[in-house]
Amino acid sequence: MDLRDSIDKNNIPKHIAIIMDGNGRWAKQHGEDRIFGHHEGVNSVREIVEACGEVGVKYLTLYAFSTENWNRPKEEVDALMELLVSTISLEAQNLHKKGVRMQVIGDTASLPASCQKELQESIDLTANNTTVTLILALSYSSKWEITEAVKKIAAQVEKGELKINEITSRLLDENMNTKDFPDPELMIRTSGENRISNFLLWQLAYAEFYFTEVLWPDFRKQEFYKAIISYQNRERRFGKTSEQISNN
Ligand code: IPE
Ligand code: IPE
Ligand code: MG
Repeated sequence: MDLRDSIDKNNIPKHIAIIMDGNGRWAKQHGEDRIFGHHEGVNSVREIVEACGEVGVKYLTLYAFSTENWNRPKEEVDALMELLVSTISLEAQNLHKKGVRMQVIGDTASLPASCQKELQESIDLTANNTTVTLILALSYSSKWEITEAVKKIAAQVEKGELKINEITSRLLDENMNTKDFPDPELMIRTSGENRISNFLLWQLAYAEFYFTEVLWPDFRKQEFYKAIISYQNRERRFGKTSEQISNN
């Protein structure tokens, strides 16, 4: 049975964020080195982006490399950066044909120059596409992002351009890397880890969380549809009572 048929077309999350975890363990289970798992993970990325187009998810944010991931062994970091460059250059045309718009969040200035170049080219190439916006979180961490936002706002106050009582939650939104995207309604993490690992702390304030034991390289369309169906079976109350929600 294709779980896609069980999805309610009228209640599709606009934005799904995913912590793609478990590549290393997947590789180990297959008797390979960690990098092999990262390569296999790219196939899951391709499928999930495609699935978003098919069911109508407009924004997909993928946590691909965290600020903390810079602390991994140099060989793994180097291999991940190479994989990123080669994947983007291989996939850009394909994404473009499917109407995907590429965007990136994170401290991209810290990425290798080759990586920055590929990213910018694919962002430019796909800038006018409207089917799905694919947001890669690269060298990203929420504490970094929030700290940068606070610095920008404080600088405006210091220059006298902004008064303290003009600082609102919306102003913080506007100073985040994610200012052009709606907040995710659903956050998925694979591989059985039940934590957020410095990902979108601000933006996930009212998101639904879905944790699965499935390792990222095994997370394909049917698993993704399961997560959407789980989301659709929840009642999102935003502080209200259940009665208020059902009377509406
Ligand atoms: C996720 O898989 C990919 C990145 C963090 C880049 P991991 O590499 O964290 O895989 P595990 O958690 O060690 O299995
Ligand atoms: C989180 O995965 C970051 C990405 C998926 C890019 P990690 O595997 O780095 O997370 P922790 O350190 O186990 O929490
Ligand atoms: Mg991990």
